[in-house]
Amino acid sequence: MSIPSPRSLPLDTGAALAWTGRLWFIVALVGQTAFIGFILAFYGVRTATGDFAGWNDKPLIDGYIPGDRAGNIVFAAHVLLAAVVTVCGLMQLIPGLRRRWARLHRWTGRVFLAMAIFMALSGIWLSVVRETRLSEISAVAILVNAMLILIFASLAWRHAVKRRFERHRIWAMRAFMVVSGVWFLRIGLMGWVVVNRAPVGMTDDMSGPADIVLTFGSYLIPLAILELYVAAGKGANSVLKASAAALVLAAAAFTAIGVFGTVTLMWAPYL
Ligand code: HEM
Repeated sequence: MSIPSPRSLPLDTGAALAWTGRLWFIVALVGQTAFIGFILAFYGVRTATGDFAGWNDKPLIDGYIPGDRAGNIVFAAHVLLAAVVTVCGLMQLIPGLRRRWARLHRWTGRVFLAMAIFMALSGIWLSVVRETRLSEISAVAILVNAMLILIFASLAWRHAVKRRFERHRIWAMRAFMVVSGVWFLRIGLMGWVVVNRAPVGMTDDMSGPADIVLTFGSYLIPLAILELYVAAGKGANSVLKASAAALVLAAAAFTAIGVFGTVTLMWAPYL
């Protein structure tokens, strides 16, 4: 069997790559909208009605702790602003919005980057000062995620201010991937459970082999796929474009399975 030469590939591989990218984004849009819906319906309703103890109606590490005023306030701000950062992140990636309402794109972009930095700092505070963590290894994984959010968001911001728009676009996409790390983690965990029909390699404190791969992979794998997608899109190598398109298609399929698992197993039972 020989590897097909780029010219003998039957498809327009550039178009296939662009379409698989769009397909992945549509699946992510559905899954992140479900995440926003869950945050508002669960945390939003309980917080607005003063039922802070109700945060613990779902399994959490800490959530509401009676008497821990500072910890409860940071937790509330962190979970509620998670909805805002997710909405703004999605809006940044919708090309129609970016083209037609450039002013809105700039404002939601500023809010997204500022919220991303707040989410990372409040997350670090919860993990380190409040000591909300399941295991040391899962804490290290999410702290690395937080560092990447701080670095990528700052770079995306800096390039936008300096009007270096191509570099801004790349760093903003990288920032989107790492900010979505906690969402990817839920998708990855539940996708793995659905595919295997059991929590294979997982433990209650998230220190099993599958947990470790998925906690670091929740941002490293999407970042690696993004880099491949961007590199394949820029070059003229059709085999690379076709391979990247196949990988993104597989990622879209796994994301769809993960969204299904997350909604049915992780969120819907508590609404
Ligand atoms: C930037 C994107 C982030 C989003 C959208 C986000 C979202 C959330 C949400 C929705 C919760 C509530 C838990 C749940 O219902 O499942 C939560 C809790 C938490 N987050 Fe984040 N988070 C982000 C980043 C981070 C980072 C970077 C860290 C750590 C450095 C972090 C640490 C925590 C901790 C410790 C909790 C409390 C968990 C518990 O008590 O069970 N988060 N986050």
